[in-house]
Amino acid sequence: MELIDGKSIAEGIKKEIAAKVAAIIDAGGEPPHLAAVLVGDDAASQTYIASKERACKAVGFTSSVYRYEPDITEKKLLEVVDFLNNDPDVNGFIVQLPLPKHIDADKILQRIKPEKDVDGFHPVNVGRLALGLPSYLPATPAGIMLLFEKYGIETEGKHCVVLGRSNIVGTPISLLMSRKAKPGNSTVTLCHSKTVNLPEITRQADILIAAIGQPGFVKADMVKTGAVVIDVGIHRISDDSEKGYYICGDVDFEQVAPKCSFITPVPGGVGLMTIVSLLLNTFKAYNAEIYPKQ
Ligand code: GUN
Repeated sequence: MELIDGKSIAEGIKKEIAAKVAAIIDAGGEPPHLAAVLVGDDAASQTYIASKERACKAVGFTSSVYRYEPDITEKKLLEVVDFLNNDPDVNGFIVQLPLPKHIDADKILQRIKPEKDVDGFHPVNVGRLALGLPSYLPATPAGIMLLFEKYGIETEGKHCVVLGRSNIVGTPISLLMSRKAKPGNSTVTLCHSKTVNLPEITRQADILIAAIGQPGFVKADMVKTGAVVIDVGIHRISDDSEKGYYICGDVDFEQVAPKCSFITPVPGGVGLMTIVSLLLNTFKAYNAEIYPKQ
């Protein structure tokens, strides 16, 4: 069993980005600028935004965060999106999810200009992804694809089983894995809450991607010997340790790891790659790579 070290891959990519930013600044240019909109005080969202700010700082990007109270109106939030869409100093931005219930998240995401949608959540970017056209890839699926690439994990002809059909992870990773590309070319089964005989299906997986949002859900008897297991879950579980909690994924690591050829740990696996993918998308926005300037 080999551990997939997301931390060292992420650090390596960040170093490459930092060198490119330094060269831009040496040449008298402005660094890329990533902005984020954060509504309310959801703990996980705060952590994600703080990590994003740290990562931007580490590579030399400009980073800004627009914070709003949870009672912000939908109309006001749409105005914030319009402002960022039209701010020439901002190359790309994200609106952190989840949003409060009184706000229609789809309406907000659809207002973001596709050129600045570095989360890859706008229907234009999702559609382009489905068609195999250049697009901003959602950060977590893009991070997983980078791990396959960096570890030389063969995906072609493999049976990839995805657990969870969210717009953020399950659906886009299933599209990417079935794409005619390298990595890609897998035969994909997308499982969800209505799937019948789940363990029977997961046991057929050469590559199992768990993005189901339930701590320790994947047990040893659900995994084939020699499988590659990618754990997207991040859960904070209270305990009586000094810290008061521990972090775990959707996979019961202790049980499952000995059966795997490769497995991502939590923490230290997919999570760190997510932020790096967002930085890479911001660089693409800065260079107008996906949507060339007219
Ligand atoms: N909430 C959980 N993951 C994400 C993400 O990748 N982007 C945004 N905007 N919100 C999230």
